[in-house]
Amino acid sequence: MSRTNKYPQSPGPIGIFDSGYGGLTILRQIRSLMPQYDYLYLGDNARAPYGTRSFDIVYEFTLQAVQYLFARGCHLVILGCNTASAKALRSIQQNDLPQMDPRRRVLGVIRPTVEIVGGISQSRHVGIMATMGTIRSATYNLEIAKLHPDIKVTGEACPMWVPLVENNEYDSPGADYFVQKNIDNLLSRDPEIDCVILGCTHYPLLLNKIRKYMPAGIHIIEQGRYVADSLQDYLRRHTEMAARITSGGTATFLTTEQAGTFQSRAAAFIGESLMAERVYLG
Ligand code: DGL
Repeated sequence: MSRTNKYPQSPGPIGIFDSGYGGLTILRQIRSLMPQYDYLYLGDNARAPYGTRSFDIVYEFTLQAVQYLFARGCHLVILGCNTASAKALRSIQQNDLPQMDPRRRVLGVIRPTVEIVGGISQSRHVGIMATMGTIRSATYNLEIAKLHPDIKVTGEACPMWVPLVENNEYDSPGADYFVQKNIDNLLSRDPEIDCVILGCTHYPLLLNKIRKYMPAGIHIIEQGRYVADSLQDYLRRHTEMAARITSGGTATFLTTEQAGTFQSRAAAFIGESLMAERVYLG
């Protein structure tokens, strides 16, 4: 039996993966643009955050998640996580997919974000705020250099931002300290920045604080809607993939943490209450 046959061949939902809750901000935008499809969300909350983990571990965990979503019937998986997109996507696309099932697809969130930045920045000085892993990978720098070589990119790692969000502290006074500190660091390194990419899917939850400390006139890029637009465009161009997605309009939520914990925190990210199922990866 070929390895391809180990996954269900009948149409299935679109899989969305994140280390935790952040991918829900991506799912929310995708679902509002394409409510007709079925979605299967997987948050590896038990092992989040990924942002401070090594390249090998993020790759290993992400591959496990992709394999799990394929086994649950997904033909298309979106890594709704910049850290996983930066550290695991290319290896999975190039080395693993051809063996697992060459007709399935895994897409990330970085490329759609990079594509639009050239049309937004006037000064051609762009800032990236992201996890340590994403910044150290330099994926944004490399991708922007390919598409917009005239843009100067400055990255700022914000290692406390994901823990603040995962622990429901994004509205607390403690969050002010770290948000202000990282924004000040970024702008002191390049005062000409006129556009800042929030390169982590958890960060939209900190938007009130970010707006408070970001000087007026600096464009803040939230990536969810651009990822949604890009996916819609992809499915229009790849009708064979669109035909392998079921259209029941449902969303199902899986987490590696206790379901109750996920349910109580997820509502803030997706704007509605939900039920979750606990699953085990690896
Ligand atoms: N949402 C993930 C991202 O976009 C957070 C990473 C983490 O778990 O640290 O990078």
